[in-house]
Formats: sequence, C-alpha cells, structure tokens
Amino acid sequence: MSILVTGGAGFIGSNFVLDWLAQSDEPVINLDKLTYAGNLENLVSLRGDTRHVFVHGDIGDFDRVSQLLAEHQPRALINFAAESHVDRSIHGPGDFIATNIVGTFQLLEAVRAYWGGLADEARADFRLLHVSTDEVYGSLGKDDPAFTETNRYEPNSPYSASKAASDHLVRAYHHTYGLPVLTTNCSNNYGPYHFPEKLIPLLIVNSLAGKPLPVYGDGQQVRDWLYVKDHCSAIRRVLADGRVGETYNVGGWNEKPNLEIVHTVCALLDELRPRADGQPYSTQITYVTDRPGHDRRYAIDARKLEQELGWRPAETFASGIRKTVVWYLENQPWVNNVLSGGYRDWVAKHYGN
Ligand code: NAD
Ligand code: DAU
Repeated sequence: MSILVTGGAGFIGSNFVLDWLAQSDEPVINLDKLTYAGNLENLVSLRGDTRHVFVHGDIGDFDRVSQLLAEHQPRALINFAAESHVDRSIHGPGDFIATNIVGTFQLLEAVRAYWGGLADEARADFRLLHVSTDEVYGSLGKDDPAFTETNRYEPNSPYSASKAASDHLVRAYHHTYGLPVLTTNCSNNYGPYHFPEKLIPLLIVNSLAGKPLPVYGDGQQVRDWLYVKDHCSAIRRVLADGRVGETYNVGGWNEKPNLEIVHTVCALLDELRPRADGQPYSTQITYVTDRPGHDRRYAIDARKLEQELGWRPAETFASGIRKTVVWYLENQPWVNNVLSGGYRDWVAKHYGN
C-alpha cells in the first residue's frame, strides 16, 4: 500500500509528508514540479528513507502521472499541487490557469483511467482528496455567518477562481464518472516551511532584516488562521473516514484582523529576539497600497468536520504562532537559502524598493 501526494515539496504538502511518515510506515510517492515554491530542503530529514519516493514532475503531464499510478498502485492520491499566492495571480494569472485548472483536469483524467482499471475491492477503497481553500466562497461582511460547505462559490481573484474551477472539476468527476473524491476547503495556514511571500513568514523575515512590514490598505482585513499541522491532521481524518463526494471545511476558529497578526508577531520577536537598538519591531510597520480586489473577511464554520469526524484543531493561535516564530528563529539557514535568487526578484517586482 502507498499514497501519492502531489505538491509535497511545498509548504503544506511537505508538512503533510513529514507528519504522515512520523505516524505511519505506509510509503509516500511525492510528485512535485519544484516551482519557486517547491523546496526539497523541507524534506531533508527523509533523505535515505525508502518510504519516501520523490518524483520531479507536473500534475498536468498525463503520461507521467499515468505511469506513476501504474507503477506504484497507490490506494489514495492527495492533491496539494497548485499555484497558491494571490498576489502572484494578480501579476500573472497564466500559471494559475495552467496548473490549478488544466493541471487538475489532466490529473483527474489520469486518475480516472487508473481507477477504472482497478480490481473491485481496490476500486471501492480508492480515494482522491483534493485540497482547496476557503477563498472560493468569496468575501464576507463584518457580521455575516462563517462559510459553510453549502455557501455559493463567489471567487474574486484569479487564484481563487482557478481553485474554484478545480473544485468543480473534482465534483463533476464524482457525479459523472463516480470517481471517489473528497474535497477540503481550508482557511489560512501558518507554521514551519511557509514561503516568506505570505504574510506571517514575511513579517518574521522582514522584522529580523530591519525591513518594512508591509500592511495592505487599513490592515483590518480578517482571516481565519490554522496551524499547518492541524490542517494535516484534518486531511488525514477526512481521508480515513470522510464520506465520498463530500466537502469538508477546515478552520481554526481563529478570526483575526491582519493588524493584530502583525502586532502579535512583533511582540513575540520583541520577547524572543529583541532589536539591538531596544526599539519595538512595530516601528517597522508600513502601510502600503491595498491588494486589488482584496477580500475583506474569511471565516470558516468547521462544525461538519467536528460533528462527523470528531476533528478539532490542537493548537490555539497563541500556541501555534509562538511555535512558528521559534521555528523561524531556529532555522535561519533554511530562511537564508529561500531568500536567495528568485525570491528577491519577486519582492522587487511586487513591493518595489
Ligand atoms: P505552496 O505554493 O507552498 O506549494 C505548492 C507546491 O506545489 C510546490 O511544491 C510546487 O512546486 C508544487 N507545484 C506547483 N505546480 C505544480 C504542478 N503543475 N505539478 C506538480 N507540482 C506543482 O502551496 P501551499 O501553501 O502548500 O498550498 C498547498 C495547497 O493547499 C494548494 O492547493 C492551496 O491552494 C491549498 N491551500 C493553501 C492554504 C494556505 O494557507 N497556504 C490554505 C488553504 C488551501
Ligand atoms: O484563505 C486561504 C488562503 O490563504 C490560501 O488559499 C492561499 O493559498 C494562501 O496564500 C492564503 O491567502 P491570503 O491572500 O489570505 O494570504 P497572504 O499571506 O498572502 O495574506 C494574508 C493577509 O495579509 C491578506 O489579507 C493580505 C495581507 N497582506 C499580505 C502580504 C503578503 C499584507 O497586508 N501584506 C503583505 O505583504
């Protein structure tokens, strides 16, 4: 038995692979294109571990995926592979359409052919779990109830529109062909191995480098934050016992305005790594032009997952964010490697000088 994971060199995927192999001896085949967001250093602790098979490749390569499925005969596939950064999707949506929509389509086609050829028992047991986002539901007003699984899709960015399209394809492959799929829609993750183009790692990295902490608009946009290991445990739970064809929302019950996140990170750094000049890190906060079409608020109602499958997050925001800041302080070589090369080009393009 084995599972096939796509995008397992990225932020959430690599945390998932590491957690999976810490708890199980079931091998993981890890297919990743190694875009700027894929980083094999995340998986360095698995070097020499025969339970982890890394394969460099694209989910949109039908022949490659078909060959992998035939070779390893996995009992499940978990699809993390995607272009994931909203700001990049605004600068250039093309890669998002190619991977998130066309790539997911090719992946589904390869899986459909593989699954259709399995013996009865293996076909009944097979699962494809598609990892998606709360952003497909659009933006909430201040007093609106949190997103449930039946909210209509109203994606607002090229990123969320491409993820919405992929969710629809996954749903259609279940309804039309009977493919045994599961979909999870999760809120904002944070934790180890988070690429520093995203808010929380960007704040930590810029703080330590004495650089501005860029806050878009008024900083009052609200996100729900979930520690990445809790997202991984939710995926394991849904994979094990989720009802085929169902969607499960995953969230941390931690709605926070961005500015509160910024101040929390600054306060932790003031405590754990005070600035040499004794000034608080919050003096580095800089208000910058807002993200075009910026969604104001996301909130997740994760009661279905709790009531059906008994999942709740283990971390509070206070415990998770402390672990995260400590991880970045203790893993400066990882940070320094990520900050070299292409990352600098992105920062110059997006934030200017
Ligand atoms: P990430 O950008 O850190 O990693 C994506 C990974 O996918 C990288 O390793 C990249 O190399 C790989 N990849 C990209 N295109 C590929 C392709 N065509 N073929 C194979 N591999 C490819 O993303 P992440 O934050 O780890 O997100 C993983 C998944 O979870 C995505 O589907 C994302 O939409 C979803 N999600 C993310 C969050 C979050 O807060 N980060 C929240 C909810 C859902
Ligand atoms: O909600 C789930 C989504 O969360 C995932 O689907 C995406 O893959 C993931 O990137 C994340 O999207 P966001 O756009 O919410 O995350 P990001 O870290 O880019 O931004 C979080 C908030 O912080 C958002 O309101 C924009 C704001 N922000 C972000 C950056 C990078 C800033 O104010 N300044 C910044 O420099």
